[in-house]
Amino acid sequence: MNFEAIKTVEDEFQLATYKKMNIAVTRGRGSRVWTSEGDEYLDLYGGHAVCATGHCHPYVVQAIQDQADKVLFYSNLVYSDTRGLAAEKLVSVAPDSLTKAFFCNSGTEANENAMRIARMATGREKIITFTGGFHGRTADSISATFLGKYREIGKPNVPGHISAEFGNIGSVRNVVDENTAAIMLEPIQSMAGVKEASPSFFCELRELCDETGASLVFDEVQTGVGRAGNWFFAGSSMADGVEPDVISLAKSLGSGVPVGACLVNEKMASAIKENDLGTTFGGGMLAMAAVTATLEAIENDDMISNAVKIEEHLRRRLEGIEGITEVTGKGCLLGIRFETPAGDIHRKLLGKKIITGTSSDPNVLRLLPPLCVTTDEIDQFVEAVRS
Ligand SMILES: Cc1ncc(COP(=O)(O)O)c(C=O)c1O
Repeated sequence: MNFEAIKTVEDEFQLATYKKMNIAVTRGRGSRVWTSEGDEYLDLYGGHAVCATGHCHPYVVQAIQDQADKVLFYSNLVYSDTRGLAAEKLVSVAPDSLTKAFFCNSGTEANENAMRIARMATGREKIITFTGGFHGRTADSISATFLGKYREIGKPNVPGHISAEFGNIGSVRNVVDENTAAIMLEPIQSMAGVKEASPSFFCELRELCDETGASLVFDEVQTGVGRAGNWFFAGSSMADGVEPDVISLAKSLGSGVPVGACLVNEKMASAIKENDLGTTFGGGMLAMAAVTATLEAIENDDMISNAVKIEEHLRRRLEGIEGITEVTGKGCLLGIRFETPAGDIHRKLLGKKIITGTSSDPNVLRLLPPLCVTTDEIDQFVEAVRS
């Protein structure tokens, strides 16, 4: 099908809920995708932070094909070696205190479950999140999203949600109380324009949670699985070593096969009983094969070190470029602040066959490339920005 035919059929039979780029992607390899018209694009958006191992990483593709040949799916009511090994592998790369996994299907679902786990563990209801954080579009997650018009879209909101200011511990102290079940945050606020807090903020949050009995939840749907230059933001120097009670994950975890997860510590795990959580598709064999292969591919190809190298290289190459005022973020989750609207830069780059992302900050361009992106590919981006 050519582009016009693809666009016509998509537009005719789907709700118009997405603002799309005018290309149809039909093939991908590494950091490159090809369109219906045969054009090659450099993908620095990674399918919205999903394609961490690169498009169609051969090791991941082989694992999915092998699993598809054995059994595609069976539910959690039977045991599965594939599921058990995926959980073991995920826990093995997690910070030490996070010892058990619960699998679901998406980021919003991971956050819904994270909040439920915190409520069950504390017997409390209130959830504190932060202005600028994005947590998903289902009822509880959208109610926790104090960004733009999301809570408005999600009305009527789930009760018990309140916001504080990201990076400001005093504002959290003002709203935390004996009914607070969780303080939940995106450790780097991606959609808000790649906003960061100081490592000491995470220590202060941990102390506050320990003091008040609230649970600490890191929404690592974007920062997790290597993207920020560490397996997880939790436990790294970015968080000054702080480990939360729950980490929620999705996006990169399955290299594009839909999968989400909550990682929890022993305290949270001990509060969860049979039938407290559940989902039909969560932990299905195809997704679990993708999880193990994704984590092994990242490890085998040393992609986390590459993410660190990419950040350093990009920061160095962007130094002194007129019109750029700031670079924020870590590893392969980066925001570039321009003096002019980022939407214009995004369109200019698309014209040069480079896919990037925008954010809710009109001047911040977001890069969420595969963790295997090369310095040469970053140079291609920098030259396109300059010209
Ligand atoms: C930090 C964060 N949390 C949660 C979500 C929701 O994930 P999903 O779209 O898979 O439901 C997203 C999606 O962009 C996200 O960036």
